[in-house]
Amino acid sequence: MGSLEAVLLLLCMSSPCLGQAAEGQGSGAGTRLISGKGFINLGHRWGSKSPLMHVSANMSEVTSIKSSFEFRTLDPEGLVFYGDTNGGVDWFVLGLRGGVPEMQIGKANILTSVAGGPKLNDGKWHKVELRSEGVFVGLEVDGTDALVLGLHSNPEDCHMTGKIRLSLGGILVRELELLNPLRTEMDGCVRAGNWLNLSSPWEMDLSEELHPCFDEIQKGSYFPGTGMALFNSSDFPAKQMNDSGVEVKIEGHSFKWNGTILGLVAPHGKPLLTITAEAQTGELIVRFGTQTDTLKLGPHSLALKLSRHAVQVELGQQQLSKLEDVAHDWVNMWNKGMPLAFGGVPDDSNSQCLEGCLSLIQVQGQDVDLDLALHMHNSISSHSCPFSP
Ligand SMILES: *[C@@H]1O[C@H](CO)[C@@H](O)[C@H](O)[C@H]1NC(C)=O
Ligand SMILES: *[C@@H]1O[C@H](CO)[C@@H](O)[C@H](O)[C@H]1NC(C)=O
Ligand SMILES: *[C@@H]1O[C@H](CO)[C@@H](O)[C@H](O)[C@H]1NC(C)=O
Ligand SMILES: *[C@@H]1O[C@H](CO)[C@@H](O)[C@H](O)[C@H]1NC(C)=O
Ligand SMILES: *[C@@H]1O[C@H](CO)[C@@H](O)[C@H](O)[C@H]1NC(C)=O
Repeated sequence: MGSLEAVLLLLCMSSPCLGQAAEGQGSGAGTRLISGKGFINLGHRWGSKSPLMHVSANMSEVTSIKSSFEFRTLDPEGLVFYGDTNGGVDWFVLGLRGGVPEMQIGKANILTSVAGGPKLNDGKWHKVELRSEGVFVGLEVDGTDALVLGLHSNPEDCHMTGKIRLSLGGILVRELELLNPLRTEMDGCVRAGNWLNLSSPWEMDLSEELHPCFDEIQKGSYFPGTGMALFNSSDFPAKQMNDSGVEVKIEGHSFKWNGTILGLVAPHGKPLLTITAEAQTGELIVRFGTQTDTLKLGPHSLALKLSRHAVQVELGQQQLSKLEDVAHDWVNMWNKGMPLAFGGVPDDSNSQCLEGCLSLIQVQGQDVDLDLALHMHNSISSHSCPFSP
């Protein structure tokens, strides 16, 4: 275990903004039954590989080889739906990659993958229908054929007996080898599901929680005030030889933020840089080393430039704060790796976790995908905020 890793583990225990790490598999503590027809939020399950819910049926009960549902997301990548027969030997996965639907099928040692059709991650509800016709599996989006995948295998391999299992938000076998590995986390919602025309309810592990879906969504990451997302600063390497060093841009309406937006912790465990919005006073408080400065919150976005011995924070065009700390080379330390958090400060029990929507987070000009965090609290919606005009 590296020293930063050890620090992060300690931080996880001492910080109020970091929750329990998600369990890899169901606890087996029991299940409850829920309808497969209502709103099902697939999000808030960072680090979990097990499904949110599942259902199984005898093949003999299956009257329709068609499943349909409505789906809404702004997340480009993740797992939507899994199905298998033969105890997981033959399986089917539907996911998104780059917003585009992708089907992967494994059957009798053959793995196939096909992707195409319209991008689904536009935040609108789309009707998705999956059907199996002989040796073909078809995917229809909003009433139009999007993908067809044919897979012929020996008739002896066709099991029309036994059980068929379906799951949402995860896969049912521990180590599934996808042909094209997929990051499984999906901040998306399903509704109006009709699953093989089965009438039986789905099972959900008691350790799982069904989060409500926002009525309407907009782009961004929503922090409800109870958790943060943690990265390693070295995930975003700074230009070493350039004095402008590190650039972080956070878009959103800063007057709607309350709590810590960003926290950077030095390797010795002390917060190096924190940027906090105080809704009561309408102030943005920047702390860098021993220095503090205050800016006025407004309809602006936030820009942060960290150079070797100074930090510069801009809120809108006019407001600027420049703080210096000549004792260390922060750009060098950034590149070596320090805990970097959005929505809280690791290792600071006095800090208030952020409540608010960060419409866009960019580091070094690249969009930050919270699903790729070292750790993310499950209260955070990684790719959606409640719509607010
Ligand atoms: C953070 O990044 C540094 C440098 O890339 C690496 O040595 C360190 O192990 C990383 N820490 C964690 C917790 O991943
Ligand atoms: C499914 O099949 C098994 C074994 O054939 C049987 O015991 C069980 O009752 C069946 N379940 C249903 C819901 O029909
Ligand atoms: C779906 O199930 C209903 C009753 O549960 C039945 O009336 C209907 O015919 C079934 N549809 C198909 C396509 O099997
Ligand atoms: C640093 O990079 C910026 C843009 O990438 C450039 O405008 C600036 O001149 C560079 N500064 C130095 C000292 O190289
Ligand atoms: C901001 O957070 C503080 C600390 O939790 C809380 O006391 C205050 O009511 C919040 N203000 C607003 C406007 O939400």
